Amino acid sequence: MDHFNYQGGELCAEDVPVAEIAAAVGTPFYCYSTATLTRHFRLFDEALAGMDHLVCYAMKAASNQAILRTLAALGAGMDVVSGGEYARARAAGVPGERIVFSGVGKTRDEMRMALTGGIRQFNVESEPEMTALNAVALELGVKAPITIRVNPDVDAKTHAKIATGKSENKFGIPISRAREVYAEAAAMPGLEVIGIDVHIGSQLTELEPFRQAYEKVAELTETLRAEGHDIRRLDLGGGLGIPYTRSNDAPPLPTDYGRLIKETLGHLGCEIEIEPGRLVVGNAGILVSGVIYVKSGEGRDFLILDAAMNDLIRPAMYDAHHDIVPVVEPAPGVEQVPYDVVGPVCESGDTFAKGRMMPPVKDGDLVAFRSAGAYGAVMSSEYNTRPLIPEVLVHGREFAVIRARPTFDEIINRDTIPEWL
Ligand code: LLP
Repeated sequence: MDHFNYQGGELCAEDVPVAEIAAAVGTPFYCYSTATLTRHFRLFDEALAGMDHLVCYAMKAASNQAILRTLAALGAGMDVVSGGEYARARAAGVPGERIVFSGVGKTRDEMRMALTGGIRQFNVESEPEMTALNAVALELGVKAPITIRVNPDVDAKTHAKIATGKSENKFGIPISRAREVYAEAAAMPGLEVIGIDVHIGSQLTELEPFRQAYEKVAELTETLRAEGHDIRRLDLGGGLGIPYTRSNDAPPLPTDYGRLIKETLGHLGCEIEIEPGRLVVGNAGILVSGVIYVKSGEGRDFLILDAAMNDLIRPAMYDAHHDIVPVVEPAPGVEQVPYDVVGPVCESGDTFAKGRMMPPVKDGDLVAFRSAGAYGAVMSSEYNTRPLIPEVLVHGREFAVIRARPTFDEIINRDTIPEWL
C-alpha cells in the first residue's frame, strides 16, 4: 500500500497533486511519501515486536538525508556499505551505535573512519578483511565488534544480478568453513565476535529461501556457542520483495517474515537485526516525467520521455518492470494503446518498456513510474551530461525539495583543465 492515488482526477502524492510539484520543480523528478516510508518501516518494526531487535535500513536503496532522518526519527538504524554512506548517515544525525557496516571491500580508511566515529558492528565478509580490521583496531587501541557474514548456499530465486547467497557469489564465507573462521577471529585481539550475519539476495518473493538460510543460521549459532563463542546478535540481511505490478501475486508481508524469524530463531534469545531497503522505500517513491514527443514508428509508437536510463537504470539493467501511469486520471473505460516507452539518451538500451499498454497520452502530458523509490535516484548518473534530477519529499499537504537539480554550470565547473591546454 502506498500514498500515491488519484484524487479529483489527478495523481496525488499524499495530499499534494503531482502536477503542482511538477510546476514548481520541473520534470523529471523523484517524489517520496513520508506516510508510505513511515508505514513500511513500522511494518518491519512491528513484525519483530517481542524480540530484542533493530531495523537497520539499507540506505543504498535511497540515501537522501531527509529520508534517513525520517526513518531515524522512527528508531531506525542504518546499514551502510561505504565511507560515503557512513558519513551521510552521521550527517543525517544517526548515532554510530545504530550503524552497521556491510560490504565485501571495506578499506582500511573506511574501517578507521567507523571505528573512530562509532559503529555498532562490522559485518565481516572474508579472512583478509578480518586481518585488516584487527590491525586497524589494534592501531587505534580499540576492539572492533564483528559478525561474520556466512554464505548459506541457498537459492534466493531472484534475478541473478541481485542473488547473493549461493556459493558462486562473492559474498560472505562458506558456511561450511564457519567454525574455522570464527576460531581465527576469536584469536584476534582487535576483534570482538558478537554474532552472525547473512543476506541472501534482493527482491525475494517467497519466504522459503529465507527459511532455509535462517535454519542454517540457527544451527550454526548452537554450534558456535558450543565452541565457546558468545553469539548474541543475528543480522539477517534484507531482501524482502515488493509488488512491482498491481496484478502479480503479492510477495509475503513483513508480518509473515517476522513470524518466520520468530519460528526459526526466536528460541536462541539473540538480538535480531534486519536490513531492509527496497520494501521500506520502493513503493514510497515515484519518478515523474514529462512526455516530450509521441513519435510514430514503423508498427509502433514511441513515447519519448524527459526521463532516461541515467535517471532510472533498473529496466535497462535488470529488465525490471515499473508501472507507468498518467498523472491525469484516465477516463473510465478508455481504450489502452501500446507504446514503446523510451528516454532521450542515445542508445537503444534507453528503453523503459516495450509494447506497454497505456491510456493514450500526448506531448506535454505527465506520467509517473511507480515503485521507483528504491535503487532509483541512488543509481542515477549524469550520462549525456544530464543533470541528476531533483528529489522531493511530501508530508501531508506539504512538499520540500530535498535535493535540487544542479545547473549546467555546476556540472561543467567540476571539470578542471590542465595548464597545458
Ligand atoms: N543488506 C545487504 C548486505 C545488501 O547487500 C542489500 C542489498 C540489502 C541489505 C538490502 O536489500 P533489499 O531489502 O533492498 O532487497 N540495485 C538492485 C538491488 C541491489 C541490492 C543490493 N543489496 C535493484 O535495483 O534491484
